[in-house]
Amino acid sequence: MRRKIVAGNWKMNNDLSQTEALLNDLIAQVPQTDARVMIAPTFVNLFQAFNVLKGHNIEVVAQNMHQAEKGAYTGEVSAQMLKSVGVNTVILGHSERRAYFGEIDELLAAKVDTALANDMEVVFCFGEELEDRKAENHFAIVEAQLKNALFHLQKEDWKNIILAYEPVWAIGTGETASPAQAQEMHAFIRKIVSEAFGSEVGNNVSILYGGSVKPANAAEIFSKEDVDGGLIGGAALKAADFVAIINAI
Ligand code: PGA
Repeated sequence: MRRKIVAGNWKMNNDLSQTEALLNDLIAQVPQTDARVMIAPTFVNLFQAFNVLKGHNIEVVAQNMHQAEKGAYTGEVSAQMLKSVGVNTVILGHSERRAYFGEIDELLAAKVDTALANDMEVVFCFGEELEDRKAENHFAIVEAQLKNALFHLQKEDWKNIILAYEPVWAIGTGETASPAQAQEMHAFIRKIVSEAFGSEVGNNVSILYGGSVKPANAAEIFSKEDVDGGLIGGAALKAADFVAIINAI
């Protein structure tokens, strides 16, 4: 079933004590909701985040992982390691991973496979750059990103896939896609997923919007039919803002 989701991607922010403080603020303020609420702290704080959040309705997810099961990959983190500290969901394909760490579609396809093989859920990020949109290439780019990384999957794999459309020009820039632009793209994504995997898969997959979501614009974006929630960066770093965004859903 399609779920509403609000996920906070903390990126490379918050050391251990800041993590504990923000989580305790969230525990105090996050409302009871039917939506899933997720936060993604940095790797080193995942275990403590899991411990602090035990018994609360906030899930801990990872920002990345390596595609190999284990081995000589200095500095990397495996699916099994994440699972061993209570993490069952991983964000893959974030535009910052693509832009700064050379993560290309083929690599992301391998990471998705490894996550699913380990019974993990994936929040798969994709989205066009500003030049693509200006050139009216945005639908083609998004379609290619999805096809290259996800369209080799089996139908049943999709129960563990959450999509996050994040136009790169809207991430951390204060620019947001208009609610109409978000809806237009989300409807397109649902259509191509439905065409490839059937309407049950298309109707059930949650499609989040990401890119400068904040308390002031969240309700309008979330009101769109094919927008099932948000992946929140900057505004997830302040409890009051993140909670306001959760309230908007
Ligand atoms: P932003 O980041 O909300 O700061 O634009 C979104 C994201 O990168 O997931």
